[in-house]
Amino acid sequence: MANITNQPEWLDNAVFYEIYPQSFCDSNGDGIGDINGIISKLDYIKELGCNAIWMNPCFASPFGDAGYDVSDYYAVAPRYGTNEDIKRLFDEVHKRDMHLLLDLVPGHTSVEHKWFKESMKAERNEYTDRYVWTDSIWEEPQGMGCIRGISDRDGSCAVNFFSHQPALNYGFYKPDPDKKWQQSTDSEGAKATLEELKNIMRFWLKMGADGFRVDMAGSLVKHDEEGKGTIKLWQNVREFLDKEFPLAAMVSEWGEPDKSLQGGFHMDFLLHFGPSHYNDLFRCEEPFFSSRGKGDVSEFVKKYIENYEKSERKGLICIPSGNHDMDRLARSIKGDNLKIAFAFLLSMPGAPFIYYGDELGMNYVENLVSVEGGYGRTGSRSPMQWDDSVNDGFSSAPKEKLYIKMDDNADRPTAKSQIADECSLYNEVRKLISIRQKNSALQSKGEIEFVFAEKNEYPLCYLRSDDKQKILVVINPADKEVSFSCGYAPKEAIYSIGGDITADNGVLTVPPCFAGWYIL
Ligand code: GLC
Ligand code: CA
Repeated sequence: MANITNQPEWLDNAVFYEIYPQSFCDSNGDGIGDINGIISKLDYIKELGCNAIWMNPCFASPFGDAGYDVSDYYAVAPRYGTNEDIKRLFDEVHKRDMHLLLDLVPGHTSVEHKWFKESMKAERNEYTDRYVWTDSIWEEPQGMGCIRGISDRDGSCAVNFFSHQPALNYGFYKPDPDKKWQQSTDSEGAKATLEELKNIMRFWLKMGADGFRVDMAGSLVKHDEEGKGTIKLWQNVREFLDKEFPLAAMVSEWGEPDKSLQGGFHMDFLLHFGPSHYNDLFRCEEPFFSSRGKGDVSEFVKKYIENYEKSERKGLICIPSGNHDMDRLARSIKGDNLKIAFAFLLSMPGAPFIYYGDELGMNYVENLVSVEGGYGRTGSRSPMQWDDSVNDGFSSAPKEKLYIKMDDNADRPTAKSQIADECSLYNEVRKLISIRQKNSALQSKGEIEFVFAEKNEYPLCYLRSDDKQKILVVINPADKEVSFSCGYAPKEAIYSIGGDITADNGVLTVPPCFAGWYIL
């Protein structure tokens, strides 16, 4: 992807690790993961081969949505530590040649944020226009859900996600002239919100953050179906970053790279929602990566190519192994097929994101009661399993004080057991990352061309290339041998699992449950 410009160079070979801070490592025995705990595990992440981190929100919050309901953007939540601690985290990350993205939640706050409390007051004040309010309690902001009946102010406030997350006001794309309360994107109120967002970014970037993962990045301007107003807003942020923090990296939770990359994001995720067909890979009734071999990768590939073309290669499309909002990879993909899934994730363009514990094949913990607004997501947020000590080394707190119950399946993996086992998923992921890091064509900007991705068929085959090398990737998760005609003749395998390919007259025969990376 030679024509991607203005990317912080470190993204070229970035491999991210997502940390859900409350479940990673508890340093002080209160049952909740914290910043000092994360610092103590940086060497583990580095050893795996990841050189970048995305950490979920760590700011002051009443935790009605696990911290995505911020009550003070400028303060680390006491349960995680202090602003000094996070400064130390940035330093420790940088000492190891790594980078760290914070999670920015620009679309909404908690109802407990002081801005919201001020904006609920009947008298006009600095925060009156900080959120999207109608001017009568009897009028609802159309199509958005609302909070009403709890303020002296006569109005209803739009919500952005849960009903305790009021929507910040960045204006409406085309305000309805009959509805005075719909402000334009260049109204004073909308502009003030955006300036404050920049202040927040400036504050953490100055302290040492390397950029942001941006929550619900496509949701900011209201009644903006095609995203044009929101794209423009992010272009404004891009100008600010180019001027003040050109090395800061931005990745959006948007799921439509043709829009987000136009807005100046460097990277966008393919997600379990949106048009990308990402779920066809790992999370549907018959995932492509299951050994049953009944999946279909063709729609995913079609959309991928469409995005790849439409985004005019302005930035990176990132495919995560999972995240805190979706089922664990290991809920539907089993055994060696997890290794095959990683052979795909780690050979695709863009920066790969590994969700903590996915490198061990951590389970989705079934039947948990919702914790902090997690609901069905709670099972993917259980504490990291480190070793064979109490609470698997996550925390010294009594069991009942743990943030979320640990997985108690007898066969659950731990980092310690997997590091010791040569054939473990952990060691395979580590090997895959190190091979990716030695072959530039496999990294973020290498080109991709799909060679075989037919409807309801296996395998998946694609070519990665740059000006130095060409690498053919062949992936067959199905438990049966398959053949396909291929114009390329694979030579030296730099990675393989499940045997080897045979080539005969332009037809490649691929063993069952196989993945291979070949230098051409
Ligand atoms: C994003 C987050 C999710 C959160 C929601 C509201 O989707 O990833 O965890 O609940 O936004 O902020
Ligand atoms: Ca703690």
